[in-house]
Amino acid sequence: MKQMIITGNNKLSGTINIGGAKNSVVALIPATILASGISKITNVPHISDCEALIDILKVLNCTAEFKDDTLTVDTTKLTNKLIDDYHSSRLRASYYFMGALLGREKYVEIYIPGGCNIGSRPIDIHLDGFKALGANITHEGNKYILSADKLIGTDIYLRIQSVGATINIMLASVLAEGTTVIHNAAKEAEIINIADFLNNMGAEISGAGTDEITIKGVEKLKAATIKVLPDRIEAGTYIILGALCGDKLCINDIIPKHLEALTNKLKEMGSDITINKDNIIISKVNNLKPINIKTLTYPGFPTDIGQPMSVLLTQCKGTSLFEETIWESRMGHVPSLNKMGANIKVNGMNAIIKGPTKLKGCEVIATDLRGGAALVLAGLTAEGTTTITDVEHILRGYEDIENKLTNVGAKIELKEI
Ligand code: EPU
Repeated sequence: MKQMIITGNNKLSGTINIGGAKNSVVALIPATILASGISKITNVPHISDCEALIDILKVLNCTAEFKDDTLTVDTTKLTNKLIDDYHSSRLRASYYFMGALLGREKYVEIYIPGGCNIGSRPIDIHLDGFKALGANITHEGNKYILSADKLIGTDIYLRIQSVGATINIMLASVLAEGTTVIHNAAKEAEIINIADFLNNMGAEISGAGTDEITIKGVEKLKAATIKVLPDRIEAGTYIILGALCGDKLCINDIIPKHLEALTNKLKEMGSDITINKDNIIISKVNNLKPINIKTLTYPGFPTDIGQPMSVLLTQCKGTSLFEETIWESRMGHVPSLNKMGANIKVNGMNAIIKGPTKLKGCEVIATDLRGGAALVLAGLTAEGTTTITDVEHILRGYEDIENKLTNVGAKIELKEI
């Protein structure tokens, strides 16, 4: 178990370099098994979700080696084995082995995936997509068995623009016979990154990044190389930190276009923000205006930045509204923020935030990844010492957080307890 101890209320300046996107790399790693051979993924973040996926590759008799930020995966000796409960439940993205193994092997045995406790997380849209392609799905307790004689491309309409289902159906259909069209597909930038990798492997995918993706099935894929795109959620979290306690804090190696929903809100609040080609520089200003945010699918305001943003709303002068529309339980961090002195009232999936309130350090618990990140921001803003427990949630998605923050002047320590 790890604990994070933060002494807050320091001005932060300097540069934070952003790593590769968690929500992209967690699909790129399973995608490697669609071809036999050695694939390379560059700009891979060192986060525990990657380690969990590498362990699944090992279960499947593949090898994976890290050198700096390049992950080399050798799938030559792939053996189709059960992905057991321990391996599958360590993270949500284990479900991408469903689509990838079904696509390549036409047979998968896997336990239900895990992931943050942010509401019920059904996978019916993924399974309906696999069924439409011709898969037969049964389950024994918590274990799914997916099998098909062959997969045949078809039109698939998603009832919700699900990121995971869009990617999983792409993975399952690249080697299918004929053409698959995903209608009402999710449009997140990560989906383009996965489609680019699959196309580098020889797939024929067009339309990724729009709500209609066409996948012409091919007979075989070859191992390939891909660079993980910058993590817009890690970037967004640190941009908000800049608004809370930055003195020309530079968030570097990013694609500002992917962050427009956030940067437009920051401008509306009156932030001191400069947007350059591949970095954003931001400083704290007093008397930020209150705003309303409503989380939506891309290009709307990202649900994964809602919790960090709620910390900034505690510092605005007046009442702000944070409306979450994707996950039922994304307010797990609020009791901790209120314990630190915030004035937040939760009503179902909405929060009314009154500010400005002075935050004071105390003992708090990270209940999920982004809620945990919100507590780090609150701790860095607060007077005194904040101790965060259950930090493992945060380490699933924020690479080297202790050093990245220490380098810009934060007083932060990770301790084994
Ligand atoms: N949904 C269904 N059925 C399904 C799939 C989704 O009802 O079969 C619902 C979900 O319950 C949710 C909505 O559809 O209400 C959207 O879910 P989506 O499938 O888009 O989410 P996901 O693929 O499971 C990914 C990210 C999440 C991020 C969401 C939305 C990964 C591993 N996770 O989840 O990231 O919040 O997209 O952008 O890529 C995080 O990083 O903290 C995180 C939770």
